[in-house]
Amino acid sequence: MLRNQLNDVLSLGQHRVWKRMAVDWTGAKEGDNVLDLCCGSGDLAFLLSQKVGVSGQVTGLDFSREQLIVASSRQQLRSKPCYRNLKWVEGDALDLPFCDCHFDAITMGYGLRNVIDKYKAMKEIYRVLKPGSKASILDFNKSTDGFSTSIQGWMIDNIVVPVAAGYGLTEEYRYLKSSIQEFLTGDELEHVALEAGFSSAKHFEVGGGLMGNLVATR
Ligand SMILES: C[S@@+](CC[C@H](N)C(=O)[O-])C[C@H]1O[C@@H](n2cnc3c(N)ncnc32)[C@H](O)[C@@H]1O
Repeated sequence: MLRNQLNDVLSLGQHRVWKRMAVDWTGAKEGDNVLDLCCGSGDLAFLLSQKVGVSGQVTGLDFSREQLIVASSRQQLRSKPCYRNLKWVEGDALDLPFCDCHFDAITMGYGLRNVIDKYKAMKEIYRVLKPGSKASILDFNKSTDGFSTSIQGWMIDNIVVPVAAGYGLTEEYRYLKSSIQEFLTGDELEHVALEAGFSSAKHFEVGGGLMGNLVATR
């Protein structure tokens, strides 16, 4: 759980608040069948699990078996009954192993930036969501404001990478700046979601503009 400790240090615990917001934005409720894409060790999936309760179902999907093993062992350490509604699936966000109109809500935290084909990922999310349901996609914000971009870049170079080095995670965080530069702005994300078929898409800046959350309704 080194990565979680590091995220706590780097965000001063704020990543937990942003993840909770992302889950709230899905509108997921008791009894829903929901999906957390690119779930990693499962932070968002565990939050979804509390939302949908014992009568709901949460699927966490990631293509990294190692991450799913960590998620599963975290699940085993938790005693709340709702966490029994979680299952972990090894799969590709670009080719989801689920039928059409299957989920009541979908989250994706810090995943879309890493996916090669963003449009295809949005098309897949659209396909497996039920009509009227929402996807909530949290990631770093690619700002169009030069000042915010400079602050973000400075923080990555001078705080994030050096602190990550202390946790032996330099490589995981070194690519962050370039991946944000190559990512889509809020407007572009909204555009891609609408192109993929969503009826509405709104991008919100969070964490003083450092992060962004796209909410798209099928
Ligand atoms: C930065 S981690 C985020 C983990 C978690 N969602 C969180 O917010 O803590 C990104 C995750 O996306 C996964 N990932 C990247 N591309 C993927 C793809 N095409 N299909 C499935 N998982 C993918 C990686 O394996 C990794 O676990």
